[in-house]
Amino acid sequence: MIPWELLDCAQVPGSSGELRLYRRGKEFSIRVNGCELMNSRAHRSEDALAELASAKIAERHCPRVLIGGLGMGYTTAAALRRLGTGSRVVVAELVPAVVQWNRGPLADLAGHPLQDARVTVLEVDVAGIIKTERRAYDAILLDVDNGPNGLSREGNDWLYSQAGLDAAYTALATKGVLAVWSAGPDSAFAKRLSRAGFEVNEVRVRARGPRGGRHTIWCAVS
Ligand SMILES: C[S@@+](CC[C@H](N)C(=O)[O-])C[C@H]1O[C@@H](n2cnc3c(N)ncnc32)[C@H](O)[C@@H]1O
Repeated sequence: MIPWELLDCAQVPGSSGELRLYRRGKEFSIRVNGCELMNSRAHRSEDALAELASAKIAERHCPRVLIGGLGMGYTTAAALRRLGTGSRVVVAELVPAVVQWNRGPLADLAGHPLQDARVTVLEVDVAGIIKTERRAYDAILLDVDNGPNGLSREGNDWLYSQAGLDAAYTALATKGVLAVWSAGPDSAFAKRLSRAGFEVNEVRVRARGPRGGRHTIWCAVS
């Protein structure tokens, strides 16, 4: 068995947590405080997050999409594959090192999505964008943590709170899509989505392979 090699560490802004990037042969892992946040061998549900949301808006004229966070770039790449040439994708990534990793050792994994001219990367907290925008996006895709019960950063709780979901509703255009990734179901979160005014569809998607565990994606339409 090839041992894991630590490639880099980075502080998570606004928390005591640290992200660590590891490689083992062709496999990469991003861990936070010792727990795996993302592994390059399992990204089916990260792809599905973008596919489910993009399918609902792909026919619109020049759709605008906000993605928070970048991770290994799979969700961003999947959105770009599904959307047309006139689309615009803003990726908000809190940890600047993650952007560097995606321009360096991780770039091949998802096929260099950051080189696509439709993409703008901002090294910011996605919450700041959601708080200030009005009817700005056709879709907002959130995969910043393990789900509504966060793993990496307490500050992310706002995104999944009633106030955060109300703000996401306001940041979306009419019939916009809020798609949220989670490691597992959360009935209280689904209720908050409905309370914010969304029509909610909850989907269970395998992490990888036919027998892998399942993740939860909420695809909510405003
Ligand atoms: C699980 S990974 C995302 C995986 C991604 N969907 C993919 O396809 O690879 C979570 C990412 O969100 C970032 N992040 C965490 N909190 C954030 C926030 N508030 N705003 C923007 N990015 C954030 C993390 O640094 C990490 O890169």
